[in-house]
Amino acid sequence: MTDTVPGPQPTGSTTGFGTPNPSDRNSLSIGSNGPLLLHDVRLVETLAHFNRERVPERNPHAKGAGAFGTFTTTEDVSRYTKAALFQPSATTDMLARFSTVAGEQGSPDTWRDVRGFSLKFYTSEGNFDLVGNNTPVFFVRDPMKFPHFIRSQKRMPGSGLRDNTMQWDFWTQNPESAHQVTYLMGNRGLPRTWRHMNGYGSHTYMWVNAQGERFWVKYHFHTEQGLQDLSNAEAEALAGSDADYHRRDLHDAIERREFPRWTLSVQVMPYEDAKTYRFNPFDLTKVWPHGDYPLIKVGTMELNRNPQNFFAEIEQAAFAPSNTVPGIGFSPDKMLLGRVFSYADAQRARIGTNYHQLPVNKPVVETNDYLFDGNMTFEHSGTAPVYVPNSYGRPYADETGPVDDGWEADGEMVRSAYSLHAEDDDFGQPGTLVREVYTEEQRQGLVETVAGSLLGGVEEPVLSNAFQYWRNVDQTIGERIEAAYRAGKGEEHVGGDPVEATTEAELASVEA
Ligand code: HEM
Repeated sequence: MTDTVPGPQPTGSTTGFGTPNPSDRNSLSIGSNGPLLLHDVRLVETLAHFNRERVPERNPHAKGAGAFGTFTTTEDVSRYTKAALFQPSATTDMLARFSTVAGEQGSPDTWRDVRGFSLKFYTSEGNFDLVGNNTPVFFVRDPMKFPHFIRSQKRMPGSGLRDNTMQWDFWTQNPESAHQVTYLMGNRGLPRTWRHMNGYGSHTYMWVNAQGERFWVKYHFHTEQGLQDLSNAEAEALAGSDADYHRRDLHDAIERREFPRWTLSVQVMPYEDAKTYRFNPFDLTKVWPHGDYPLIKVGTMELNRNPQNFFAEIEQAAFAPSNTVPGIGFSPDKMLLGRVFSYADAQRARIGTNYHQLPVNKPVVETNDYLFDGNMTFEHSGTAPVYVPNSYGRPYADETGPVDDGWEADGEMVRSAYSLHAEDDDFGQPGTLVREVYTEEQRQGLVETVAGSLLGGVEEPVLSNAFQYWRNVDQTIGERIEAAYRAGKGEEHVGGDPVEATTEAELASVEA
């Protein structure tokens, strides 16, 4: 006897190769209680394909979602870049993906974390990806440290548990993290929704105009919905009641045709300024004060179309800082240069060698690449020569000489933790952020959040290092954090640890 289903009768299905499928519900056996048969190709295809349904999740930024939309250049910034997508009135189709950094695929959207802000622009000159975060800075300034950082935020090797001691150990052993940790422990660490957060390219990039003039730029996407965050209590409740709160919010807003929008502005630094600026302008732990380099408006991004299929269009989407177009280049930021290698390498491993041929990753322009064969080739160059130069007319590229988006780098080969500008210290900008940008309410929130995290089982000597770290950011905030911790423990604060002096960057204004 076969199963019966209520409702309309099924009208049939096929195998992956188009042949009729006798059943999606009953496997082939000898007698109804008998052994299954290996030649039941329908069952074998069903089970074997299921075993291969998952591709490895992204190592960082595993949990996320996104939507398609358009970017419109509303202003004239052609004096800074020749990139086609940033010419006046250009409209470009795009994809955005938002994510948390540390959590795995099923983790709650509202755990405190930095949020990813990845953009892919399908431009008339090929794909341009800007893979940023909702904060303008980052935890470290050397790519060698990145895997160590990510491991310290994920799970313990023994128990498989997340661990506050491990997180604070990494941060306090790497004081350049202080600026980003101050953002993370503040309002940016818990955005109300993805629609209510800003996005930043974070790194310094290069722009080149049609005359070959070079500029250094930083990208800022300001939410037109207004910056809004969640309290610790709201976030905790949502993590329990709706782990997909942010994913759902974006999806539902677009279904309601409430299309979220962001304004893109850039800070532009003349090429020569970088040589004498008071701190290293390629240091990813620093912002450029707006008083030095004001925001210049470029255009508007709107998200207005949900993916039709989450796996095909979001899981398989491959964003990479290496995807640039003419008029946009890299900079001597070591983190950026490390990322330029890392992403495409991860994607070849995670999705497959020919991931660039998938519809979501494919450019809208014709390609003439010499990438040949490999797993899952389905676009090919037929019988055309696969080598250059060739005598059969297949075009190839052959530029020589200085590149238009290059920079002078003729120094000695070194391994170096710091550069030598006057204000390259680690604590100046986070101190300014706490004192001059945060309101008293936000400072109190920071104190409670940090103390709460330390109360979550942080052990010595990491605990004392964490108190010192915050006194280095700001003496008073450090004392308040320690007092809140002791109060949480039911201890009286006796104080008295030696205090290191903080250095102040005396910034005219900082990122707000
Ligand atoms: C040297 C430092 C870094 C390395 C080596 C690195 C490496 C990676 C890797 C391997 C992935 C997974 C890619 C994939 O499987 O598709 C990833 C994802 C991501 N990273 Fe990084 N990362 C670094 C720093 C940063 C920084 C500084 C930012 C932001 C300013 C950032 C933002 C992101 C985002 C948003 C994603 C998710 C991309 C998506 O939505 O698919 N990362 N990173």
